[in-house]
Amino acid sequence: MSNPPSVRTAVIPAAGLGTRFLPAAKAVPKELMPILDRPALQWIVEEAVAAGAERIIIVTSAGKEALRRHFAPAPELEQRLADDGKGDLAAAVAAAGALGHRITWVEQPQQKGLGDAVLCAAAAVGEEPFLVLLGDALIRAEVPCSKQLVDAYHRVGGGSVIGLRPVPLERTPRYGIVAGTAVGDCLFKLHDLVEKPHLGSAPSNLAIAGRYLLTPGIFRELRQTRPGVGGEIQLTDAIRALLLREPVHGLVYDGERHDLGNPLDYLDAVVAYALDHPDYAARLRHRLAGQREKAES
Ligand code: UTP
Repeated sequence: MSNPPSVRTAVIPAAGLGTRFLPAAKAVPKELMPILDRPALQWIVEEAVAAGAERIIIVTSAGKEALRRHFAPAPELEQRLADDGKGDLAAAVAAAGALGHRITWVEQPQQKGLGDAVLCAAAAVGEEPFLVLLGDALIRAEVPCSKQLVDAYHRVGGGSVIGLRPVPLERTPRYGIVAGTAVGDCLFKLHDLVEKPHLGSAPSNLAIAGRYLLTPGIFRELRQTRPGVGGEIQLTDAIRALLLREPVHGLVYDGERHDLGNPLDYLDAVVAYALDHPDYAARLRHRLAGQREKAES
């Protein structure tokens, strides 16, 4: 089997308007909503780094300058914390700033959709394969989801690999759904994608789910993709065109996806992360039990 090029770059689209999370997202981008002690976007950057990404390209837009500020160095704050004997916090602040050294910022002039956001990163990516991690989706997994995609990419000898997760058939009309042939454990060779299929017409129950590994061939397809659902340039439409020219696989990843784009799912994510965390789990369980007792009394 051929030896495909290494995956060293990740793109995180984070330029969206976040309308489902207004008014909270008016001044604080939804990608910066906290999940325990750090913003969602930091968890996502850390996932990319754990998958081997040396360069992280974050696509942002006017009004979302707070994204950059989170990853900027803060020597005065670090010094103050160190002087106050808060070494752990100083190290945590420094760690966020250190991630910033890997980040290249790219502007999306107008929110024309996920596909357009990825295309805005084309020059920064260059001619190499790259990961895409949606800036408002966390995937709680033992092996970081993006790493699972990179491992699958090497197993199949290159090409694109799309992260998938099973969804109940009655919910398929909400998602991009794939058609494919099983070629290994949780691995499919894809031959079609359908964006938001009508109820009963989905070719499978496997939905495209927030993580992608794409070859640079996707940029050619994106340049030719016309606006689709909602007048936006859809990444799904470009992948559909790509699979006519190049192999595209789908991997049903191991992990749970949390969409942070709306308050209820966000709440779900915070609780799930807290129940997974040794510092929070027991105390949160205790407090939730207290709330339940109050509600029942
Ligand atoms: P979403 O469609 O969930 O984000 O895109 P949105 O457009 O901000 O959400 P609503 O519908 O207005 O509530 C998934 C990811 O892609 C980014 C978003 O920032 C989010 O992280 N995105 C989306 C862009 O970077 N540019 C776009 O034009 C659209």
